[in-house]
Amino acid sequence: MLPNPVLVASGTFGNGEEMSELIDVRQLGGIVLKGTTLRPRLGNAPARVVETPAGLLNAIGLQNPGIEETLRDKAPFVKRLGVPCIINVSGESVDEYAELAALSDACEAVDAIELNVSCPNVQCGGIAFGTNEELLRDAVRAARRATRKPLIVKLSPNVTDIARMARIAEAAGADAVSLINTLLGMVIDVKKRRPVLANKVGGLSGPAIRPIAVYMTWKVAQAVGIPVIGMGGIETLEDALQFFIVGASAVQVGTATFYNPRAAVELVAALRAYAEEQQLRSLKELRGTF
Ligand SMILES: Cc1cc2nc3c(=O)[nH]c(=O)nc-3n(C[C@H](O)[C@H](O)[C@H](O)COP(=O)(O)O)c2cc1C
Repeated sequence: MLPNPVLVASGTFGNGEEMSELIDVRQLGGIVLKGTTLRPRLGNAPARVVETPAGLLNAIGLQNPGIEETLRDKAPFVKRLGVPCIINVSGESVDEYAELAALSDACEAVDAIELNVSCPNVQCGGIAFGTNEELLRDAVRAARRATRKPLIVKLSPNVTDIARMARIAEAAGADAVSLINTLLGMVIDVKKRRPVLANKVGGLSGPAIRPIAVYMTWKVAQAVGIPVIGMGGIETLEDALQFFIVGASAVQVGTATFYNPRAAVELVAALRAYAEEQQLRSLKELRGTF
């Protein structure tokens, strides 16, 4: 379905507006839009991001204009750029997940739906759905009933057994799973003796989490029969290859875009050159090959 297996991760690429002025986004396999909720959200109070060793801790809190504007303006904009458009939705209840999926289903510009059941930075919903087995099953089932479009479930790493959650998502009707979302973390300002983030807690991303993401992708790829989309600290060819080798069918580039806006398009070119050099007809030949 995708022109190539390199997507840009939700929340790290805006909705493509600014980035399309900097890079040739048509090189991408797809753009995952910034997380959308039913109603507009202002997000959390600042400070909302802090750098950590080889990483970034954020608590944006799903700032977004709401599903109506996202479907009316943002998704069609991405579609007009000539790139597959994946909407990323987050509900506060099972019914909201169903409604978000139904509304997305009716929008021509949306090619696939990524269910965010793993946002660590909102008070209601989000991560609760990704860490509770019944809630996860109910949210995925409800969304599945509401759409025929490809349904990707984005899993939380903040669980004991992510492979079990992946199997639940698959049994409830997911067409693919994506992982990982950010890991819960905290940074303390020792002079003030207070957390740096106003939300106190945030989600850790970037190279710091890559070994965890590779490990979890490996566990999940063995547990399910549906495609697995890997992410977590991917910037270079070598980073992405690790995910393909442990079983991913596609990857998403997130935080790397902040320090190298060209990271995802450079990765597409590097993968193409690698496939040629290794005489691979498809990256599928790499999948699970260790
Ligand atoms: C600033 C920021 C905002 C994010 N917003 C979202 C979001 O709205 N929805 C979502 O599913 N994931 C969101 N994420 C998580 C990323 O999509 C990705 O899962 C995570 O950052 C791990 O990949 P990375 O290390 O390549 O960034 C966000 C991440 C960052 C850093």
